[in-house]
Order: sequence, then C-alpha cells, then structure tokens
Amino acid sequence: MIAVAIDGPAGAGKSTIARQAAKTVGFLYVDTGALYRTVGLHMLRSGISPDDRQAVPAELDSGRVKIGMQFQDGEQYVLLNGENVTELIRTPEVSKASSQVSAIPQVRDFLFSLQQDLAREHNVIMDGRDIGTVVLPDAKVKIFLTASVQERAKRRCQQLREKGIFADLGEVSREIEERDYQDSHRAVAPLKAAADAIWMDTSDMTLQEAIEAVTRIVKQASGAE
Ligand code: DC
Repeated sequence: MIAVAIDGPAGAGKSTIARQAAKTVGFLYVDTGALYRTVGLHMLRSGISPDDRQAVPAELDSGRVKIGMQFQDGEQYVLLNGENVTELIRTPEVSKASSQVSAIPQVRDFLFSLQQDLAREHNVIMDGRDIGTVVLPDAKVKIFLTASVQERAKRRCQQLREKGIFADLGEVSREIEERDYQDSHRAVAPLKAAADAIWMDTSDMTLQEAIEAVTRIVKQASGAE
C-alpha cells in the first residue's frame, strides 16, 4: 500500500487539494481532522468541556463514543455512535472544540489505530497535522502544505461568502492565528513539518496549480509517471 501524508495549518487548502489529487490517482482520501471534530462534537453534546483533561478521557474510556468512517464515491462520512455527523462537525464551535480535544493525549491515542488501519488497507492520501510525523512516519510521500495567515483568511471569508455568510477578515485572521498557535504549541504531536516533508506554500498559487503540483508528486512517487 502507498501512503501520502499531507500536513499543514488550518485553511491551507489541504482538504480540497488532497481530495482532488486522490480522485485523480485513485487513492482513498482521508480527512483526519473530521475525527477530532467528531470527538469535539460528542463532548459539546454531552456537556463536557472539550479542554477537561479528566472528563474527556473518562468519557472515551466509558465506551460511549464509537467513531466510524465510511467512504462512498470518494466522499468520506463520519459516524458518531451510528449517526452520520459529517455536516454537523463543520461549525465554528466544533472547530474550536476539536482543536481543544486534540491537545489531550488520550484523544490522540483513541484515534490512532483507526487512522493506521485505513492506511494498512488502502492506498491513501491522508491529511491532518501529525500524519507525516506520528501516524504514518513511513509514508512514501510527505507534503507540508501552508499559506500565509492573510491568504488563508481571505480564502475562508470567500468560502463563507459563497454560503451567504458575511465574515470580518480581521476576525477570521485572528481565529486562524489562534488555532495555529494552539495546534503548534500543544505538548503532544504538535503541528510541524516532518524532516523529510516537501514544503509547499500555496499563498501565490491558484487552487488548480496546487492540485496539479500535489498530483504530480503523488504520481511520481507511486510510479505512475
Ligand atoms: O483539519 P481540521 O481543521 O478539520 O482539524 C480540526 C482540528 O483537529 C485542528 O484544530 C487540529 C486537530 N487535528 C489534529 O490535531 N491532528 C490531525 N491529524 C488532524 C486534526
């Protein structure tokens, strides 16, 4: 099996780029952030503070949290105790909660084997924060995808505008900076590039250019080119 790890900060375009590249090369696209989001959603629903380092692991130990993933036509669906929560995990509240639960080591352990099993069974392009460093350290290709805070905020505002939501650029920039800080300063598996990762800054690239660049790298590595 061939594994491609794509890591990078929130809003760098990882999911769009990875999804398209995976479609072209016929690999399974796995968005690991969705798993942390699902844990975050469960804690919010259960009235447990997502940064409670006692209650969150206790809830996971209780057996009350069963997370599953399904794939259909290249789309990933996440199940929380059998319920499809794929859409529900995309709110700003869940974004914040996911970042908080992801700093708790037991949460990372809880999700670890699910991610590794997928890579054992399929050719994958997996995106996240610690895929090249922790989850799949032997991945054939590792890409660290980034873009400036300003550019990521601009893209995020545009996405929201397309959904009819007006967002203040300054506020979105601050949220992105806050999440970057949290994700890269936590004690366990912080966001950082693997030593052998290919760095790609997409600030001055169009989406299409970034997709093509990643697809080319994956094809070369998998021997398709
Ligand atoms: O990629 P995303 O924005 O959906 O991720 C949500 C949160 O989950 C993010 O703030 C950090 C965390 N995360 C992580 O710690 N490790 C991963 N492999 C993926 C996401």
